[in-house]
Amino acid sequence: RRSWAEPYKIKVVEPLKTTTREERRRAIEEAGFNTFLLRSEDVYIDLLTDSGTNAMSQDQWAGMMLGDEAYAGSVNFYNLERAVAEYYGYPYLVPTHQGRGAEHILSQVWIEPGDHVPNNMYFTTTREHQERAGGTFVDVIIDEAHDPKSEHPFKGNVDLGKLGSLIEEVGAEKVPYVSVAATVNMAGGQPISLENLRAVRELTRSHGIKVVLDATRAVENAYFVKHREAGHEGRTVAEILHETCSLSDAATVSAKKDLLTNIGGFLATFDEELFEEARALVVVYEGLHTYGGLAGRDLEAMARGIVEMVDEDYLHSRIGQVEYVGEKLAEAGIPIVRPVGGHAVFLDAKGFFPEMPQDHFPAQTLAAELYLDSGVRAMERGVVSAGRNRETGEHNYPSLELVRLTFPRRVYTQAHCDVTVESVLEVWNNRENVRGLRMVHEPKHLRFFQARFERL
Ligand code: F0G
Repeated sequence: RRSWAEPYKIKVVEPLKTTTREERRRAIEEAGFNTFLLRSEDVYIDLLTDSGTNAMSQDQWAGMMLGDEAYAGSVNFYNLERAVAEYYGYPYLVPTHQGRGAEHILSQVWIEPGDHVPNNMYFTTTREHQERAGGTFVDVIIDEAHDPKSEHPFKGNVDLGKLGSLIEEVGAEKVPYVSVAATVNMAGGQPISLENLRAVRELTRSHGIKVVLDATRAVENAYFVKHREAGHEGRTVAEILHETCSLSDAATVSAKKDLLTNIGGFLATFDEELFEEARALVVVYEGLHTYGGLAGRDLEAMARGIVEMVDEDYLHSRIGQVEYVGEKLAEAGIPIVRPVGGHAVFLDAKGFFPEMPQDHFPAQTLAAELYLDSGVRAMERGVVSAGRNRETGEHNYPSLELVRLTFPRRVYTQAHCDVTVESVLEVWNNRENVRGLRMVHEPKHLRFFQARFERL
């Protein structure tokens, strides 16, 4: 198999700082054992997220100098509109400051109190906006997605039986749309197949239910379709992306991932009515409809990132890097979510600490241990991220209790990957001496960002 060696070289460098274990102990305690509350200057290798942490290309940086900072009608908006129409296919575009800005507007326009919104698993901000608009979130992903050991190649697929029963139970008029993520972040960066998406489309069309794509990592999804789904190996990722979007009515996108930028997002659609309403709302929450809370230069970086994101040498290297780390860990017997996803390797914290109750926060604990060991920063994706049930006030206990090692695009080298693998092994070897955590501060919304913990 072709090597995943980077199809670019380094022109500008950003120094990394190393720290002692004692310095890290102080830093993680000050951060309340929450890696979101660490200062980035105390982090060695930052695998918190692939969101906005990408290295831009020389072409994107050159485009930044061409920012047209007009309040209205910036040339960069039209460049972006053209790129979205060409590569995603949507004729109508509403830019937003990032993905959740688009989710907010979409949820406000399409969800009425009392509605049900089926999703293939959940994403934190997406669900929050659906619920704040009065919707009830319903998970309709296939069961395999909840099993870290299942090797199903498309664990992002929607379970058509679950979707069909929901529609029957609450009535199609209470289901404004199905929210389909490609890839599914919380399931481990797992893709949805085109066949499944087409089936979702067919099932919902007969009921007048729309399909909204969370196309934040739809390019990475298209890469998996090309390599895993029969009949697509001869197509380009760009063609597959186009077809994916053609099976939806609208998409919300965080440009901070696939589009290789540091900020940005958008709502894009085929639906003229949605467009008109979204364009009216965006001026309330984000900014005028031709800038949506962004500078002209950011819109230009997005437009140029769209052209680069479907480059298959780049994608092969990007996904190859994540796979490299996943395979090294798997070979060493570390429990990870299988198969390895597009943007991250997910450690199975329940596999590290099988005796630890979930309300001692195994994944939060594991992320803190990893930072303590080496300064590698990861992210909890377990019970803390899942929040509380709005009705009962109890924790939502997800079956997956994960720590995400998320790879920024075009940022770290293979040696950084090796250091990360070594550190995970070190923590694995010492796992029996680790105690869990107690939550001592819990914010009301999206608690994982700012919650604080103490050692039990
Ligand atoms: N949808 C998905 C699938 C995401 O992963 C994210 C962000 C969003 C929507 C929201 O976009 O951050 O631009 O407002 N994910 C980041 C992460 C935060 O670390 O996974 P945003």
